[in-house]
Amino acid sequence: MLRRATLFGLALIGATPLLAQAALAQEVNLYSARHYDTDLRIYENFTRETGIRVNLIEGDGEQLLQRILTEGDNSPADLYVTVDGGRLQRAVEAGVFQPVEDAYLDSRVPANFRDPNNLWFGLSARARVIFTRKGERPDWLNDYEDLADPRLEGEICIRSSSSVYNISLLAELIEDLGADAAEQWAAGVARNLARPPQGGDRDQLRALAAGECSVAVSNTYYWGALAQSDNADDRAVADAVAFFYPNQGTEAAPGRGAHVNISGAGVAAHAPNRDNAIRFLEYLVSDEAQAIFADSNNEFPIVPGVQIHGPVAPYTQFRNSGVNVSIYGINAAEATEIFDRVGFP
Ligand SMILES: [Fe+2]
Repeated sequence: MLRRATLFGLALIGATPLLAQAALAQEVNLYSARHYDTDLRIYENFTRETGIRVNLIEGDGEQLLQRILTEGDNSPADLYVTVDGGRLQRAVEAGVFQPVEDAYLDSRVPANFRDPNNLWFGLSARARVIFTRKGERPDWLNDYEDLADPRLEGEICIRSSSSVYNISLLAELIEDLGADAAEQWAAGVARNLARPPQGGDRDQLRALAAGECSVAVSNTYYWGALAQSDNADDRAVADAVAFFYPNQGTEAAPGRGAHVNISGAGVAAHAPNRDNAIRFLEYLVSDEAQAIFADSNNEFPIVPGVQIHGPVAPYTQFRNSGVNVSIYGINAAEATEIFDRVGFP
């Protein structure tokens, strides 16, 4: 870290890591907001292949971000892993990341799922989609825009507007439709709520199965979690409902595509083990790690064509909007203002 303290030291950065690596144990310090036991397998595989030990510091995404900021120049963080494009963008604005020019990462991660300035890279994807009870989808219900249709008055279950997932969805709609249309949409969905928002995405699916509403909004992986649950009631919920990808259009007239969010990681601005961090990022987008990483949470791999398993495996073919997910952070404040203005609880 000291070598970063002066301009003279900065000039040495390129030369010193090899020396440092020879002298010190090879390691990489991972600050991660992901908490899946299966992720541990990825870290073990990486250590076996490279000899680089993974030191895992887990926490809530915002807590870890604050910790890195508090630690400042002395932060041992090499990589920061978190969920949601909006959060990754806030980390960018806080100056937590450094750019990584890496042709392999660029070739593996689609451009809309990485930072335009190479400050972070997507690792897994989830779509925010529309659910109905099986066989009860109205034939006119196709797009996010339809959630504001008066025919759905009193019919929608969705978690509160304070959820980062809903903020990111509205942030994208501001981009897709313009702020005025996005505000009308939010007002329409607020009018259509079946009940004051309560609980998380799973709870919306439970309420849908129980008949409290006829339409619910949830991320795909929560349905996967219910389908895989040890609890028979949860499995029954998953079995009673079905989702579709919004805004797909038809073959002749393709729609703009579904709203997709990500988990992602970037190399910390003061990473003491920068080369190891990049090597680890490269490992995370390998076919092997991508499958484990996605399966651990019933997400989709960020790298196209990687085979996954589990309940969402049959649903990987869909059109996503292609919007760069950094937009979710850039438009987040405006999205929150809109939700407040229209009285979306
Ligand atoms: Fe989640």
